[in-house]
Amino acid sequence: MSSLQAKHLLGIADLPKSDIDLIFETADNFKEVINRPIKKVPSLRDVTIANLFFENSTRTRLSFELAEKRLSADVVNFSASSSSVSKGETLVDTVNNILAMKVDMVVMRHPKPGAAAYLSKHIDATIVNAGDGAHEHPTQALLDAYSIREKFGEVAGKKIVIVGDILHSRVALSNIHCLKKLGAEVKVCGPITLMPRFIESLGVEVETDLRAALEWCDIANMLRIQLERQEQKFFPSLREYTMQYGLTMPILNGLSKEITIMHPGPINRGVEITSEVADSDHSIILNQVENGVAIRMAVLYLLAGTA
Ligand code: CP
Repeated sequence: MSSLQAKHLLGIADLPKSDIDLIFETADNFKEVINRPIKKVPSLRDVTIANLFFENSTRTRLSFELAEKRLSADVVNFSASSSSVSKGETLVDTVNNILAMKVDMVVMRHPKPGAAAYLSKHIDATIVNAGDGAHEHPTQALLDAYSIREKFGEVAGKKIVIVGDILHSRVALSNIHCLKKLGAEVKVCGPITLMPRFIESLGVEVETDLRAALEWCDIANMLRIQLERQEQKFFPSLREYTMQYGLTMPILNGLSKEITIMHPGPINRGVEITSEVADSDHSIILNQVENGVAIRMAVLYLLAGTA
């Protein structure tokens, strides 16, 4: 088996392209496995994985848990709301206590940027970042790029626009790093108040006009507005955001070519995307979710091989 250069999956920024390619090749095998009648393989038998979720999640949490179970790992789940963190315990103490129970790998979602990287320096286990604040969400970016590769054959040369709340989005940042490494062209689109000031230094262009952005792209990745991360107002109202940046069927039908629609979830139907678009043939949203399991199986399997 080839192995990853990375010892942890903390983000895409520092992940070599060769590691991304290996994760995709491995995910191809696991995609075949999860579509068999018997979806389980013994690859991670005797490996114990703790899923530590200090922030809400539906897709990522279930997807990691399913990936782990499909690989025959032993799995323990932890959520902050029911833990002793609320009694004042530090992150390192909490995780060290869990590791004393002989856990090999930790999958962690945390509201603070850098939490996974911090943990990797203090804990003797393999760490997988399942989203750290507005910083990175590496497995989401990998499954997004993998879904583009699946639909189009390759990512290189594709034109992708990421629409919405770029400022607060870990999905946007990880997607930009991943897509650029794989040779795609990337634009970001949304209100200028929701654009990070450094964004063009990542090699992406800003387009504030939704129709112009959609006319340019092959694929539009629609993000939700992250109201939970916004301490001030970045646009007059959600209704006005929807009027300017909400994707509807008349807008899609008015374009000169067909484009593919992606969304990392959770979707706010009727805000950034209508139900008609989300459920249309343009959408590969549920393919993204399916591919998430194969990608996470590949990541866990390969990282276990480097431990
Ligand atoms: N895409 C994503 O991270 O969704 P969850 O917050 O439900 O995990």
